[in-house]
Amino acid sequence: MTRLKTLALAALVSAFALPAFADEPGPGGSKPPKPKDGADIYRMYCQVCHMADGKGAVGAGAFPALASNARIGTAQYAIYMIEKGKGGMPYFSDSLSPAQVADVVNYIRTHFGNDYKDAVTAKDVEPMAKPPTQARR
Ligand code: HEC
Repeated sequence: MTRLKTLALAALVSAFALPAFADEPGPGGSKPPKPKDGADIYRMYCQVCHMADGKGAVGAGAFPALASNARIGTAQYAIYMIEKGKGGMPYFSDSLSPAQVADVVNYIRTHFGNDYKDAVTAKDVEPMAKPPTQARR
């Protein structure tokens, strides 16, 4: 057998050797994963823009740091941003429950160098828990 044929055969064999269950759900089944706490919500919904360390990023867009951020000292402000969005910040009122928004607000306000101890509850979030009424942009 030539070297090329051997290689081609090896490629073919490894392609079939990989388990390819294309008609079966992956780990976790067909249900989307459920975040279990504020840290989980942050990781799944916020980290992509605000980064794992909460320091934000500047690149294709400008994502403000949540780390050591005096503005989120006002819990209502953080709740408002998450429920209503603004500019490049998407709103989450149609994907996170009031309890989940409270969890992630409490998380960002007590991590990344923030130390705001006045925790919020779903009750604080509920009045703002509606998607923005006007079309954005
Ligand atoms: C698609 C990117 C993106 C995602 C995802 C995102 N954000 Fe933002 N966020 C932004 C941008 C951009 C801004 C700045 C908006 C502005 O002021 O115009 C912002 C602003 C904020 C602010 C206000 C900060 C300040 O200093 O004014 C808070 C609080 C915030 N985001 C929290 C969150 C939380 C919590 C999540 C997850 C539930 C989240 N963000 C998810 C992009 C994002």
